[in-house]
Amino acid sequence: MNFPAKDNLIRFTKTLDRLKNMSENRNDWFPTSVWHFAIDNHQQLNAELLPEIIAEQQRDLIGEKWSNVLGWHSRSDLHEKNYCSNLVQIIDRNVLEVANFLRWDLQQFSLDITTCWAIVNGKFASNSVHNHPNSILSGVYYLKAPENCGGIYFSDPRPASQMLIPPVTEFNLWTFPKVSYKPHEGTMLLFPSWLLHGVEMNMSEKVRISLSFNIGMSPIKNKKSR
Ligand SMILES: [Fe+2]
Repeated sequence: MNFPAKDNLIRFTKTLDRLKNMSENRNDWFPTSVWHFAIDNHQQLNAELLPEIIAEQQRDLIGEKWSNVLGWHSRSDLHEKNYCSNLVQIIDRNVLEVANFLRWDLQQFSLDITTCWAIVNGKFASNSVHNHPNSILSGVYYLKAPENCGGIYFSDPRPASQMLIPPVTEFNLWTFPKVSYKPHEGTMLLFPSWLLHGVEMNMSEKVRISLSFNIGMSPIKNKKSR
């Protein structure tokens, strides 16, 4: 009763101790991963792919309309073209790495590229926020990524977390509303297909060229099953 100052000091010290130990007293659930891969010998791969993509664009100048805003979107069967065979192998390898990490049981289902398309974004082109329904994983590979050509951004997939946003002294993993990846030639990203994403406006005079793809899953019929 006679030592409030001392009591306060004890309380304050306990608070500091609690903050210090917070990382030991916390569990982080439901993480969302974006995997990134630097592709070996990507210069050669890109040299194979780029003329073919330009040729696709010349054959179909209008292209398709999906999330692209002012940009060109190819048809979505490029994974079936011979010139994409090396890229398909690389995608398969990286998808397998992700599947192993997630402990997916590939005795019970297979993972296959279902669609693959090129995006050519000239100056001021972008891609609006979207996700890729009916797929399990999606990805992108960068062939041309000049400075200021626009990053790919991913939005916080926890919409309820936006109900009340307190001011922060700095953003961190728990408070970023979105994260942006600067594209690098020869880099591949893989992410869950449900994760909302978009592409910032290309402010470069040069084109930004990428190949995107979706991975679907098909059940494997078990001989023992009825
Ligand atoms: Fe996308």
